Amino acid sequence: LVTGPSPAAVSGSSRTVSPFAPADVLAPRIGAAIEAAFGAEYAGVDPLLRPSQFADLQANVALSLAKKVGAKPRDVAEKIVAALDVSDLASSVEISGPGFINLTLSPGWLSGAATSMAGDERLGVPRQERQIVPIDYSAPNVAKEMHAGHLRTTVVGDSLARTLEHLGHQVIRQNHIGDWGTPFGMLIEHLLDVGETSDEATLLEVDPNSFYQHAREKFDSDPAFADRARGRVVKLQAGDAPTLAVWNRLVGLSKVYFNRIYSALDVTLTDGDLAGESMYNDQLQAVCDELEDRGIAVISDGALCVFLPGYTGREGKPVPLIVRKSDGGYGYGTTDLATVKYRVQQLHANRILYVIGSPQSLHLNMVWDTARAAGWLPDDVEVVHVQIGNVLGSDRKMLRTRSGNPLRLMGLVDEANTVARKVIDEARPDLDEAIRAEIAPQIGVGAIKYADLSVAHDTEYVLDLERMVSLTGNTGPYLQYAAARIHSIFRNAGMAPDAATAPIVVAEAAERDLVLALLQFGSTVALVGDALEPHRLAGYLFELAQAFSSFYEKCPVLKADDAAVRDSRLALSALTLRVLTQGLELLGIRSPERM
Ligand code: ARG
Repeated sequence: LVTGPSPAAVSGSSRTVSPFAPADVLAPRIGAAIEAAFGAEYAGVDPLLRPSQFADLQANVALSLAKKVGAKPRDVAEKIVAALDVSDLASSVEISGPGFINLTLSPGWLSGAATSMAGDERLGVPRQERQIVPIDYSAPNVAKEMHAGHLRTTVVGDSLARTLEHLGHQVIRQNHIGDWGTPFGMLIEHLLDVGETSDEATLLEVDPNSFYQHAREKFDSDPAFADRARGRVVKLQAGDAPTLAVWNRLVGLSKVYFNRIYSALDVTLTDGDLAGESMYNDQLQAVCDELEDRGIAVISDGALCVFLPGYTGREGKPVPLIVRKSDGGYGYGTTDLATVKYRVQQLHANRILYVIGSPQSLHLNMVWDTARAAGWLPDDVEVVHVQIGNVLGSDRKMLRTRSGNPLRLMGLVDEANTVARKVIDEARPDLDEAIRAEIAPQIGVGAIKYADLSVAHDTEYVLDLERMVSLTGNTGPYLQYAAARIHSIFRNAGMAPDAATAPIVVAEAAERDLVLALLQFGSTVALVGDALEPHRLAGYLFELAQAFSSFYEKCPVLKADDAAVRDSRLALSALTLRVLTQGLELLGIRSPERM
């Protein structure tokens, strides 16, 4: 087992407050009360606002402050409450237990906040101070099938890209495809043998693994081919023009395959985001030279290695990052060192995200520590490994097909869309055939993506298509259905959701719960950007959809007795629809208007 030092704790980007989130609005008020009661030295103390069982929120700060000011927590709470001015916000402020301050928001404030949120085109999502954020995600390998792990980094990375962009950052997508290295000699020779326009070559666009396997089989069984393949790598590395032309063709065919998957999955990656391993090829020697000249890398057993403090294997043996192998070849790590340099020096990154499988954590930490030692990664540039956990099959092993071959991603997408079609045919036989055909892929793809986004990105989960595509439970289709149902309310009302702009008045308990959920949207999106956890948004949207469901059950909208109540409920429904649609969009999931 190899262990490395845990990465230095990095603080998130400054969290920006949302103008409507109750905790964000209350925090400065409690802060002011603490300052008034105990003096300026306590300015900026975290009020420790948490959800409460007995009120909307509870502030726990009195308990932590008690020691510092040398008083009983309950007395501290009383002093804070005495200095607290929240008459415009809260209908009750009570101290309970050892000194919790329980705050209940007034219907008047909730109504006003919801109405203001409805008038805000950003729905309370803050615009943060702009950072340059390269995001390394997807990164499949040329002439290889994308597997479920690539699917997950693609989906999680894309959601983070959308979210950070929405928060005001300049996201630079970096699709670090595996398009360089020794197997390319064999792949190029095979492509030359079969012809660039042959059916075999076309496999690269639809079933790249078969192409790869055929090349591999020839390499293993035909010594003359193996010799040619080895010679070809040398030519490729030397920049031989005809060889590069065939290599280009090979990568081009693979791009067709990647792009088919990206468009089927509704992912924002384009050819312009490709920044593969080959891009760094001409910088690898300089990387090695610089490390060697400065004594950061040393020759060990013929290889150029970086030995970093803290990286040890069995019996405390130091584990090196090998930057040049004894045969002169460069490795994956060398390329990643060049990647860090490029992102810092050329892209001027403030924060770099690597959305990559968890097993690559040690690799990344060694690369970063080496880059820090070389001065290529300054302390003010935050690097984060957004660790992606494995997707498992029903046997709880890494997802494979029954034959043991890697799962074909396009096959998974097709299967999900077929199941989605079945589900929608059963649930809505009354819908036009053309509409069902149009929405089935939105539901199928939404289901796959939501399954990746609704669990913490670093945990393992078992892929279960039937559950994922279900219209009930914490699924993508359930959220899509919740949004479609609101569209149908407006169709029945004969009005566009945008036209529902009446003031929102909170009276019933179910309205209150729904408004409380809605007001959290902005701070939830900000949290996703800071913590880099899309599942927080997924969980939020699920709770919001449930709150809407109870509201709709308990509070008649179109049949409300009073015109003002009806208009308020229509406005509340329209606001919920906007939040659901915007939230799903940040996850990269479409919201069909009918389903
Ligand atoms: N191509 C690699 C793989 O399939 C992932 C590359 C991730 N990005 C990086 N900068 N190392 O595992």
